Amino acid sequence: MARFDITSEAFKREPHDTLSALVEAGPFVDLKIPILGKMAFATQFDAAMHVLKDKRLFAVDGRNAGLKSQFGLRWLPKTFQLLGKNMLTQDDPDHRRLRKLADGPFRAIEIDALRPAITTLADQLIDDMERSESPDLIEGFCRPLPLMVICELLGLPLDDRPRFMRWMENVTNAKSVISMVTLLPSLRKIMSYLRAEVERRRIDPAPGLITKLVQAEADGDRLSEDELLANIFVLFVAGHETTTHLLSTSVLTLIQQTDVREALCADWSLARGAVDELMRYNSPVQMTKPRFVREDTELLGRTFRKGDKVMVMLAAANMDPHEFENPDVFDIHREKNRQMGFGGGMHLCLGIHLAKAEAEIGLERLFKRWPDLALGVEASSLRWLGRTGLRGLTSLPLSINGAQVIPKAA
Ligand code: HEM
Repeated sequence: MARFDITSEAFKREPHDTLSALVEAGPFVDLKIPILGKMAFATQFDAAMHVLKDKRLFAVDGRNAGLKSQFGLRWLPKTFQLLGKNMLTQDDPDHRRLRKLADGPFRAIEIDALRPAITTLADQLIDDMERSESPDLIEGFCRPLPLMVICELLGLPLDDRPRFMRWMENVTNAKSVISMVTLLPSLRKIMSYLRAEVERRRIDPAPGLITKLVQAEADGDRLSEDELLANIFVLFVAGHETTTHLLSTSVLTLIQQTDVREALCADWSLARGAVDELMRYNSPVQMTKPRFVREDTELLGRTFRKGDKVMVMLAAANMDPHEFENPDVFDIHREKNRQMGFGGGMHLCLGIHLAKAEAEIGLERLFKRWPDLALGVEASSLRWLGRTGLRGLTSLPLSINGAQVIPKAA
């Protein structure tokens, strides 16, 4: 088991060899990760798809697999338990009901209508970075762009953004059970802020998804107060941090792969295929949430007992040579790129069209403004996030048209 290191910064920096070895050792490999402990990971494409699609055999709520608790953990603070009412931690029929209530604004057609607004936001951020003495691409672009877009979609006031970013940063930095406890105050602040926003919408229905969810609850009594808060929260967390890491890793890859960048800059209609390949190659979300086995079974040569935990290593499935020819090669012209970076099955990412649009637009606006964007430091000195399961940079110092741009806190 110790053979595979999937938590160190070295792995985040250069994950491909380890991922290929995980594919080879699959379809299931036992790994130990912080907080959740030891479990089987599906590391090959077919096994990964099977776990995500077979809802008869796999549940996301441990209680549907005979366990006492939803997450299969012995102890969890109350505030976390409340968050368990979000769609990602519910099985059908609750999952279907919650997803249906939220999915309208995330359909491809709705997201296409948002493209001009996303373009304007991206340009404003680039203008600000150009004016700033010490801009950092993560702080100035990769983090605020998705955050501003999700604020817009939910209808949260943009003025609250700095406060929210601070709280969210604390919440999303948990690496261990101990840091889960220290993030509780921020989590409570977020929940009481959202509770107040929900109350405000009951009296004054401002535009945005929060109002729609509040009204859905009032109309048909279909969304409890806890479900409402948990789902707004998950849209917030899932809707910005993941996309931040897609943007940061994508910019790095395009800086390093000069040929691809030049091809893209000559024809931005290639952006759609490029973003799919950037998702596959970088897998910013490296693994799914755990699934729980509903009954004793044998799957692809492995025996599982009722209640066992299984996770899907999306980043490894994305390197499976049976699905992707020459998986190590970054090829934006790949045909039928079924990359798994957004998961699969009934919990397939709700924000898939939004995240792709943000990446396509964000990369085009950045490289159109700064075609000679380069690293301001050696690639080896870039710092990678320590959090297990997420792959992204903590800062990205750049050199624009030959002038070095140093981040505020490199
Ligand atoms: C690059 C950006 C993103 C990546 C890589 C990503 C990845 C994922 C993955 C892997 C899952 C499935 C997890 C599992 O099965 O355990 C998921 C689910 C989800 N994502 Fe995303 N996501 C991204 C952006 C977004 C955005 C922008 C939103 C919305 C604002 C969003 C909202 C959600 C929601 C609500 C779910 C749960 C869906 C369900 O349970 O039915 N995500 N995402």
